[in-house]
Amino acid sequence: KTRPSPERAKYDFMVVSNRLPVDRCSADDAEIDGERWRRSPGGLVTALAPLMAKSDGAWVGWHGAPDEQLEPFSHDDMDLVPVELSAEDVELYYEGFSNATLWPLYHDVIARPEFHRTWWDSYRRVNQRFADAVAQSARENATVWVQDYQLQLVPQMLRRARPDLKIGFFNHIPFPPPEIFAQLPWRQAIIEGLLGSDLVGFQRPSDAANFMRSARRFLGASVKQQQIHVRNSAGNITHIARAQAFPISIAVDQISELAERPDIIERARQIRHDLGNPRTILLGVDRLDYTKGIRHRLKAFEELLQDGSLKVQDATLIQVASPSRERVEQYRILREEIEGTVGHINGSYDTMQNTAVRYLHHSYPVEEMVALYLAADVMLVTALRDGMNLVAKEYVAARTSHTGALVLSEFTGAADQLKQALLVNPHDIDGLKSTIMRAVELPANESRRRMRAMRKQILDHDVDHWSSEFLAALAETVVRDDS
Ligand code: F6P
Repeated sequence: KTRPSPERAKYDFMVVSNRLPVDRCSADDAEIDGERWRRSPGGLVTALAPLMAKSDGAWVGWHGAPDEQLEPFSHDDMDLVPVELSAEDVELYYEGFSNATLWPLYHDVIARPEFHRTWWDSYRRVNQRFADAVAQSARENATVWVQDYQLQLVPQMLRRARPDLKIGFFNHIPFPPPEIFAQLPWRQAIIEGLLGSDLVGFQRPSDAANFMRSARRFLGASVKQQQIHVRNSAGNITHIARAQAFPISIAVDQISELAERPDIIERARQIRHDLGNPRTILLGVDRLDYTKGIRHRLKAFEELLQDGSLKVQDATLIQVASPSRERVEQYRILREEIEGTVGHINGSYDTMQNTAVRYLHHSYPVEEMVALYLAADVMLVTALRDGMNLVAKEYVAARTSHTGALVLSEFTGAADQLKQALLVNPHDIDGLKSTIMRAVELPANESRRRMRAMRKQILDHDVDHWSSEFLAALAETVVRDDS
């Protein structure tokens, strides 16, 4: 059993994720404010940073550049422990196994997953490196929280090295039904990896149920209610792992405050003005990913222009597609398709004054995103499968005036919580078209009623609520007997 190294083992609370929650500043920015790193946007770090500051915490993860070894450093009161990935690790573990095997497999096989033994070998090696980094730096009886599908083997690897630790895992993406998970040649090893945890968290109850069915089917584990009895090779129970849903959320206050800032309200007005003040602005915001249903959305919008339900003078669709995983083949193909379709639609319907689709292949800072949410009358979230979808929650958080309409795919985790959205099956193009038209024409009182109810839901369930529920449940998990 690996003992913590005395000079490094100084942390009581460790978060582990593929990426560290910081981005490197551009050379220009670094020259201006002297900072080399900037905190990444997103709710997870907003929720966890204060907890780490309070409890001798550190974050373990990759810093985003290949073939670069960095010493542990601090940023923004957070201790960061970088894990190195070589260019080959990035290709095999990150682009390969994580994003061309697991990602499509866990998202209803929307794209065909590829199974390669060299990718799997790399996934194992890299997961071991993350586990080693934690094992060396965690104090006796520390709490470790492992994040997401890139690191599913870490809990078991950690438990082997450090049986004293409390280990939680949270899966941010869906967990597939056993009928689909069955395809994975390494299905048993993945389930065993996750079962190294004391608590395995999922977005939806159905994800937790899928996981428990797989544990039963592929390991013969005994599962009672939400508890899975984990046995060693001799057949003795080593510990009990609990599987449960904890739907993630966003930093609601942060988004709401930005939405009331005069410069951001002014920026929203400017965006509308720059588009020629159309009667209706529709908005899509996604990573450019085949799970997001961007093609279905464009198809429905194009047909609405075609059959005259919408006119280019009255309606513009802003589609922000942030660059993502650009070296993975399926993402390249998708980009070609989307950009071809946008060109086709605009070529057919644009006039000198008006554009049908304003397509932006960029990422924007949160201030600009909130201005876009404020400018948008109708938000379109048409994912074919999505663990949660935080964009839907951000739109609701930004609509402090209780106006606007959210069209939301029933295949998102967010649909479980935002029940007053206009729910759609994005595969049903006619249904999607009629729901978009309903949203465009939604009477103000109905929009207010729906938005108010959705805002109440997310105000009561922000990302702090999520992390404290998870960590409280982790603290309460049964202490194992160390046989
Ligand atoms: O939960 C989905 C996820 O893979 C996160 O782990 C990650 O922060 C985000 O999507 C962006 O993906 P990537 O790190 O591959 O750019």
